[in-house]
Amino acid sequence: MGEKGVFDDILAGSDTFKYYSEGEWKVSSSGKSVPIINPTTRKIQFKVQACTQEEVNKVMESAKSAQKLWAKTPLWKRAELLHKAAAILKDHKKPIADCLVKEIAKAAKDAATEVVRSGDLVSYCAEEGVRVLGEGKFLVSDSFPGNERTKYCLTSKIPLGIVLAIPPFNYPVNLSVSKIAPALIAGNSLVLKPPTQGAVSALHMIHCFHLAGFPKGVISCVTGKGSEIGDFLTKHPGVNCISFTGGDTGIAISKKAGMIPLQMELGGKDACIILEDADLDLASSSIVKGGFSYSGQRCTAVKVVLVMNSIADSLVKKVNEKLGKLTVGPPENDCDITPVVTESSANFIEGLVMDAKNKGATFCQEYKRKDNLIWPLLIDNVKPDMRIAWEEPFGPVLPVIRISSVEEGIRHCNASNFGLQGCIFTKDINKAILISDAMETGTVQINSAPARGPDHFPFQGLKDSGIGSQGVTNSINMMTKIKSTVINLPTPSYTMG
Ligand code: G3H
Repeated sequence: MGEKGVFDDILAGSDTFKYYSEGEWKVSSSGKSVPIINPTTRKIQFKVQACTQEEVNKVMESAKSAQKLWAKTPLWKRAELLHKAAAILKDHKKPIADCLVKEIAKAAKDAATEVVRSGDLVSYCAEEGVRVLGEGKFLVSDSFPGNERTKYCLTSKIPLGIVLAIPPFNYPVNLSVSKIAPALIAGNSLVLKPPTQGAVSALHMIHCFHLAGFPKGVISCVTGKGSEIGDFLTKHPGVNCISFTGGDTGIAISKKAGMIPLQMELGGKDACIILEDADLDLASSSIVKGGFSYSGQRCTAVKVVLVMNSIADSLVKKVNEKLGKLTVGPPENDCDITPVVTESSANFIEGLVMDAKNKGATFCQEYKRKDNLIWPLLIDNVKPDMRIAWEEPFGPVLPVIRISSVEEGIRHCNASNFGLQGCIFTKDINKAILISDAMETGTVQINSAPARGPDHFPFQGLKDSGIGSQGVTNSINMMTKIKSTVINLPTPSYTMG
């Protein structure tokens, strides 16, 4: 397939993109568009359609009728199409990565990695799906007290119907396919509402599914203003499941959504506990990578360092040395620290930084900001009365709290409303396991920074960090229901044999 012109169909003008409904690329009847601001230039980079509620209704109707046939399409054929989409996605990593660079200021190399990781996820999901969904259960009644062997129960997994996927700006491709692939392999149809920043990358990704040849209506993508179609989508009676990744909006969605399964990955205040016997070279590299990659805009970023007093000076010194080597600038130059996604995010981060400063925290570097670009900053001697001790900046600033006991570290971690991931650095594996057990988070990493991947690992948050568990197998299971058929046999009036 030639590179030139592959994505022409999704364009409605030089920088305006269509939405995807009933297997076609369309222009909204609203005549309106939503601008996407490039975080680096702070100028309008792209525009997407401002879809109407009527258009959402149309998408839901076609998703509903398409799903009936899709569910009857043999599993191996569904898998084949997913493999095809994965290959097309990987073949077109360059134009998709270019969009990620312009829309969300992801460094060029990380943007390409996101697309490849997404293709791999789709293929893995196709393979896992044929096994997970290709098996059912057979139960017999006489295993339960009081029953004869007169009932045979056959169970299998059936799709839910329409899955609504709402991914966040920081992984508009990867956290879309992590919802799309399990939904589709399980026989659901899928409606995607991408984030505004990241919508154009997501539309390119959807086009790869279109090119793979999925039947009309099985996959759709609507763009537009949250105020017009946000609640309308999440409360839509046609939706049978919502998979959301993002911030507080997820809590609001859970309160409004009806009696449907929800998969919610929300925020995190991922704590990093450093014990006295830790390998400080490993810990400091992990803190810098975990806290500052993609400028800290990851729910799994290290968001607070809890370090034992006796080693705090050495750790802070090592982290500072490594921070000094990070490059700061535009994503096109593959800089380590790039502009944060919006001006309001930068203002929010600055608010946390100034609060810490006013309350007496120690800045290890000078605080520096130009527009959306914030230079990496380690804030030492943070105390519990500072907002940054509890709130997630989603930016390249990291608080350090010095602790006098491991228990104090665990207490701080567990006092958070969040409970996504955490990590521990120590050479004592027994201690690490005991601390992991005591930490109220969905995952604890021992001797490494928090991370969601590899994408087939279970991924879940406790408390305000989410509902349900992700990872390929868990998502496939979550997007299905168990269906039982019971064969009732006559009560035996005699014993055979
Ligand atoms: O931002 C939330 C993502 O799920 C984090 O994923 O650990 O692969 O960066 P990651």
